[in-house]
Amino acid sequence: MLTTDRLILRPWVDADREPFAAINACADVMRYFPSVQTRAQSDATVDRQMKAQADRGYCFWAAEKREDGQFIGFIGIQDAPDYYSMKGGIEIGWRLAASTWGQGLAPEGARACLAYAFSKLGAPEVVAFTAKVNKPSMRVMEKIGMTRDLAGDFDHPMIDEGHPIRPHVLYRIKADAVLSC
Ligand SMILES: CC(C)(COP(=O)(O)OP(=O)(O)OC[C@H]1O[C@@H](n2cnc3c(N)ncnc32)[C@H](O)[C@@H]1OP(=O)(O)O)[C@@H](O)C(=O)NCCC(=O)NCCS
Repeated sequence: MLTTDRLILRPWVDADREPFAAINACADVMRYFPSVQTRAQSDATVDRQMKAQADRGYCFWAAEKREDGQFIGFIGIQDAPDYYSMKGGIEIGWRLAASTWGQGLAPEGARACLAYAFSKLGAPEVVAFTAKVNKPSMRVMEKIGMTRDLAGDFDHPMIDEGHPIRPHVLYRIKADAVLSC
């Protein structure tokens, strides 16, 4: 469990399934994804995160507000997919309820995740990627000190050719960039 000023990042529990499904059914939240998610798709994501936590001890953790315990989405780390130059690395990611946006919660939680990846896991580097049009997510990457790898642009292999969210950008941050500041 990671704690920040305003957040707790923790393993998932079954009670998160319903509020997470509501987040994934929101068109605003999912506007840079191929579609909103059904309850079954949302539950499958929860299942994957629970399995990752059990297998490896980290995942895209459930995020709750410290002040009232409200579940608001996820912020966390996972093994990066095998696309292009990310193979074998740690990926950081986030998805929060629209009602919480604009308060700096994603970067706050993400900084704790970076510290965990570098200090506890000994990761040499953490990557993040998003659709080229997802400026809010790119802003979070920049706020936590990540740098865009211009050579790392790629077309997401699971999104149809010609789809506006197919072009993706890749950001990186090395351990020494965080540990030295
Ligand atoms: C990306 C996301 C996690 C950012 O979380 P957050 O806690 O709002 O982060 P911040 O408060 O630091 O805001 C980051 C940027 O989001 C944008 N933003 C802020 N409030 C917003 C709002 N109400 N509506 C739309 N965009 C907003 C701004 O560009 C902001 O950058 P700025 O601070 O330089 O103005 C959130 O927008 C989200 O969950 N989006 C949907 C899921 C998603 O796209 N996840 C990433 C997939 S790779």
